[in-house]
Amino acid sequence: MIAIASDHGGFELKQEMMAHLRERGLEYEDFGTFSPESCDYPDFGEPAARAVAEGRCDRGILICGTGIGMSITANKIKGIRCALCGDCYSAELTRRHNDANILAMGARVVGPGLAEKIMDTFLDTPFEGGRHAKRVAKIGEVESRG
Ligand code: RB5
Repeated sequence: MIAIASDHGGFELKQEMMAHLRERGLEYEDFGTFSPESCDYPDFGEPAARAVAEGRCDRGILICGTGIGMSITANKIKGIRCALCGDCYSAELTRRHNDANILAMGARVVGPGLAEKIMDTFLDTPFEGGRHAKRVAKIGEVESRG
């Protein structure tokens, strides 16, 4: 199950990403926003990220104008490793090396075609483990120190 959320800035792109997930037969839960009306990204990013942190969803996709507000919000939650990506190389490497569990994208930064490729890359790339597992564990230690 994929958690997906946006603010008004990411609303249209979220619709396109959900259509693509349906085409791929991938299940998702839409945590809003549910209209293009102006809203505040933490109100939608937080519940989606908590669903991932609590294991109710396996991965998350967060979209706002730049992707920055959403990624900052998600990374405040224990257990979340949210990567803001505007290219496929970063999306691949953040899965392989960082075991990122949420992808953030900026709807005013990437177009729908690129966003689709970035999302597919993120969803389809496994974590490499090995030496990277130790580094990801250290991220958790940083988090524990507050
Ligand atoms: C909303 O105008 C915009 O600030 C928001 O979508 C996002 O880009 C924030 O990081």
